[in-house]
Amino acid sequence: TDRIGVAVLGAGNVGSEVVQILQRNAEDLRARVGARLELVGVAVRDTSRDRGIDTELLTDDPAALVVRDDVDIVIELIGGIDPARELINAALEHGKSVVTANKALLAEYTGELSQAAEKANVDLYFEAAVAGAIPVIRPLMQSLAGDSVNRVAGIVNGTTNFILSSMAADGQDYDVVLAEAGRLGYAEADPTADVEGYDAAAKAAILASLAFHTRVTAADVYREGITHVTAADLESARKLDCTVKLLAICERVDDGAGHERVSARVYPALIPLDHPLASVGGAFNAVVVESENAGRLMFYGQGAGGAPTASAVLGDTVMAARNRVFGGRGPLESTYASLPIAPIGDI
Ligand code: HSE
Repeated sequence: TDRIGVAVLGAGNVGSEVVQILQRNAEDLRARVGARLELVGVAVRDTSRDRGIDTELLTDDPAALVVRDDVDIVIELIGGIDPARELINAALEHGKSVVTANKALLAEYTGELSQAAEKANVDLYFEAAVAGAIPVIRPLMQSLAGDSVNRVAGIVNGTTNFILSSMAADGQDYDVVLAEAGRLGYAEADPTADVEGYDAAAKAAILASLAFHTRVTAADVYREGITHVTAADLESARKLDCTVKLLAICERVDDGAGHERVSARVYPALIPLDHPLASVGGAFNAVVVESENAGRLMFYGQGAGGAPTASAVLGDTVMAARNRVFGGRGPLESTYASLPIAPIGDI
């Protein structure tokens, strides 16, 4: 094989960045993969809009694109459950490797998609789905595969962290900062997902499933957003030498009767200013993993935005492409445990 055909679904903040990097770094990527990564098509809703992408590459028929014979890897960046789920399943069934950043979809259907990938013996990679540029999926699935994770906790939504950090720093108005987060490409198309904690809950579900090898969906995650956090709350926190951060916490808990359960929750928490998570500002994310043998690991970096998220997508794409050139397949989710979810009142 001297070429790997790549199809990109979606040309929003992340998709257009991925397309640019594929073109700008073509030579480097070819050297790393051992074959040329050839962009064969970009699926968009409106092909007449100028996105700086060669119009010949644009198509408004993603279903036809993902099954094309000259496509080896499908990069799904449209988000949401439908039609992303059908498109990814169709791609996998046709033997394409899939790279996705779709946290909402993965929070519900990682099992279904992993099974389809396993059946077709192709890769399903999703490093970009949680915490943007920060490697956190691969450490959980690979580096810590021989350890036993007890807790994964941190800041996994850039938009709300940007809002809370700005409000705490200079008392800026919530709506003004939210609009700024949208302009900077951090917020979801519908920022309700960010500010009501749905985005963080989806990420918590993915992290908990991988960390504890059990199926956790977004509906299992206790969730509170930041819409009721006021400038006065942040001011009060400050008087206590604390700040407020939207935390996602996934841990093994004992139900008191000697049985293990999983607790997964997202809520605005009061944390002391000298806590490592207190200094995570802007759209940055940080994830702390605690495991039996490794002890405590901390991952920190840009958790949202076009280029940082594209970095993770490109990393997955290079891995998937190498596997197609040299043979082999990356790991898939392994859920063999069955830990019930702890009701929030029990923790
Ligand atoms: N809207 C998300 C965030 C993008 O703000 O973190 C990254 O998943």
